[in-house]
Amino acid sequence: MAYKTIQTKTEGRVGVITLDRPKALNALCDELTGELADALAEFEANEDIGCVVLTGSTKAFAAGADIKELQEKDFVSLYLNDPFAKTWESVARFRKPIIAAVSGYALGGGCEIAMMCDFIIAAENAKFGQPEINLGVMPGAGGTQRLPRAVGKSKAMDMCLTGRMMNAEEAERAGLVSRLVPVDDLMDVAMEAAEAIASKSLPIAMMTKESINRAFEIGLSEGIRFERRVFHSQFATEDQSEGMAAFADKRAAHFKHR
Ligand code: CAA
Repeated sequence: MAYKTIQTKTEGRVGVITLDRPKALNALCDELTGELADALAEFEANEDIGCVVLTGSTKAFAAGADIKELQEKDFVSLYLNDPFAKTWESVARFRKPIIAAVSGYALGGGCEIAMMCDFIIAAENAKFGQPEINLGVMPGAGGTQRLPRAVGKSKAMDMCLTGRMMNAEEAERAGLVSRLVPVDDLMDVAMEAAEAIASKSLPIAMMTKESINRAFEIGLSEGIRFERRVFHSQFATEDQSEGMAAFADKRAAHFKHR
């Protein structure tokens, strides 16, 4: 499908979505969020895709919701028809592994979308922040919930109440990002990670993601029980037989994603 505000491509079993509104630093306007949801739906439906990388430009992953559009909203119009809800849900509920490759600004909704991905690989110039308070609002796409889970209460309060940005080093120290890489290496590292994930069994990778995400929603004993059930069910897959047989035969596994 041809998009206007994003670009998509596939490389092997990896799908890449590049946010592409350079003049507005990839601000998340209604059109972009709609296209992002559509692109994710396409990749989710495509069984040949095992992992997705979501990225932006060198200067900006995304500078947040489009403030010029937000300015026109009122309570009732947002309440009746929240244009972001579809996108936020589409990223947060995306079932396959998805990596955010962040360079430059990841602010407001941009930071929130990055946090909805499974992990963040950041370039050294990345800047994360929830500056909504400067606009007279608070984060509205999961920031007040996901940021404290990622970096702890103190830093999340600091970020959301002062609106200050966190540089890439601080973000790595705080656990918001999994890897910090030179700007020029960002896509190579992200693609290498995505290819590694996509080479595993897709159903097993999806179940692993589902199980880790459960850890943020339920208590430990329920979580352990959930994990055990899913683990047992994996012995019904062809890929479990293949993975263990390959280890015993001292050869590489050839997963069929079944
Ligand atoms: N919405 C709309 N347009 C934006 C934008 C945004 N979030 N961020 C940047 N732009 C536009 C600017 O208006 C400017 O457009 P013009 O050239 O037409 O004036 C263009 O992008 C370039 O921006 P700057 O000239 O400001 O670039 P800069 O390098 O001087 O500053 C910046 C970069 C610090 C990121 C600054 O643009 C900025 O502070 N942006 C706003 C960040 C923000 O507040 N984000 C939160 C949005 S609200 C939100 O996301 C709510 C939610 O939780 C869902």
